[in-house]
Amino acid sequence: MSKPVVFNQTVLRDGHQSLAATRMKTSQMLPVVEKLDGMGFNALETWGGAIIDSCLRYLAENPFDRLRALKKLSPKTPHQMLLRGQNIVQYQAFPDDVVRAFVKCSIDAGMNNLRIFDALNDIRNVKTAIEATKEFGGHPQGALSYTISPVHTIESFVKMAVEMEEMGAESITIKDMAGLLLPRVAFDLVKAIKAKVKVPVTVHSHNTAGLANTAYYAAVEAGADIIDCSIAPFANGTGQPDTLLMEEMLTGTGRAPKYNRETLFELQKYFEGVYQELSAYTSPDNERTDVGILRYQVPGGMMSNFLNQLKEQGMGDKVPEVMNEMTYVRECLGWIPLVTPTSQIVGTQAMMNVKMGRWKMIAQNTKDIVLGKYGKTPGPIDADVMKLVCDQTGQKPIEGRGADLLAPRMDDLKKELAAKGLPATDEAAVLYAMFPQQTEAVFNGTAKPEVKTAAPKVSTSTEIAKTRRVALTVDGVRKDVTVEEYK
Ligand code: CO
Repeated sequence: MSKPVVFNQTVLRDGHQSLAATRMKTSQMLPVVEKLDGMGFNALETWGGAIIDSCLRYLAENPFDRLRALKKLSPKTPHQMLLRGQNIVQYQAFPDDVVRAFVKCSIDAGMNNLRIFDALNDIRNVKTAIEATKEFGGHPQGALSYTISPVHTIESFVKMAVEMEEMGAESITIKDMAGLLLPRVAFDLVKAIKAKVKVPVTVHSHNTAGLANTAYYAAVEAGADIIDCSIAPFANGTGQPDTLLMEEMLTGTGRAPKYNRETLFELQKYFEGVYQELSAYTSPDNERTDVGILRYQVPGGMMSNFLNQLKEQGMGDKVPEVMNEMTYVRECLGWIPLVTPTSQIVGTQAMMNVKMGRWKMIAQNTKDIVLGKYGKTPGPIDADVMKLVCDQTGQKPIEGRGADLLAPRMDDLKKELAAKGLPATDEAAVLYAMFPQQTEAVFNGTAKPEVKTAAPKVSTSTEIAKTRRVALTVDGVRKDVTVEEYK
């Protein structure tokens, strides 16, 4: 008899990151944290990803204070965070001393499980963070950025999982950020990884294409130990599958967990209120599922911004060409996974290629990928593109790890903070390294929480009803009225 699968609860991190632009405030979390702690989840995902940026930039909160406050009210359940390897929670690499200090500060503030990934799946970019997590007493979790390409195979992901376990990862996560994981692949991938690693395997997905619930089901059938679920309405759509739904779905399989459904309904009711409060940041685009993403693999969150960007460039009629060009650019760049920041880099380069001709203009970020500054790409870089970039920059691709070229920064960061009259602590320094202006404003008390009220959401049909005149027969008389007048 196999043991029940356990759930990580993501409502306090990925749930609102995916469905409400990461805007849930600490004050909106505190009323239910004890209740969440009592549920017996494997872990509560509360931190990392875009949370730290959002706390500093929009909510005028010290993110470490949030973590301490949450941990105080939920001491029983391990807390989980998402860490972008050498990029910490930013878009470019930081030196090892900053990564190590960040990991130590997080663990000191109450963090337990650090889920560590790299956008290119370059294992060298997760090593420092995994080793530091172990050293400072946390649980290092190695995450594979799942993507589909000719160079990404079950074997390549298994190899990476094995390498991460050897590096010290105490569990492995299949991180499907765009929701591309088909149920059959989930089954095969989990089976293959479970056959080669001893540590627990977690599956993390998004229901963007409508596949995640079934992919989870298949993964559990194949022996996955843990799945990531959220609580509606901060679930489904571009978010994780809903906890209650997955519990129901697994009933009768022999692996269903037993989380108290009454309490889950109460939590759902509570979060419906918070979802209303955050309506300025929610959108039907995130709530629906769209299988179209499978065609171009663009993460759900990126698509609406990207379409706007194309319109602004006067390229609204070029969408299909640009989307096809993205696949070509991705191939030339060694089939890099499309996840922040690589999705934006590939999108922008594809747009430039369509507008000006292929590789007539090469963006700086694209050059950095080609030159290996982000890490080793999964497949080889196209030889012609490599030559162009080397000729234009006068540089050769780097062989080693990008972060090896970066000098330690912690001492200088603390000196800078002290010179500004701010606390020269490790916590302040690691935040300041990533978000200097925002950290300064939060620490000197000048930061103000963003105030945004919801724009009235007028449906297209209402708009049409106001203006469209139709000929209708009312009480036997033919009239020319607007649809609204008819109502
Ligand atoms: Co996610």
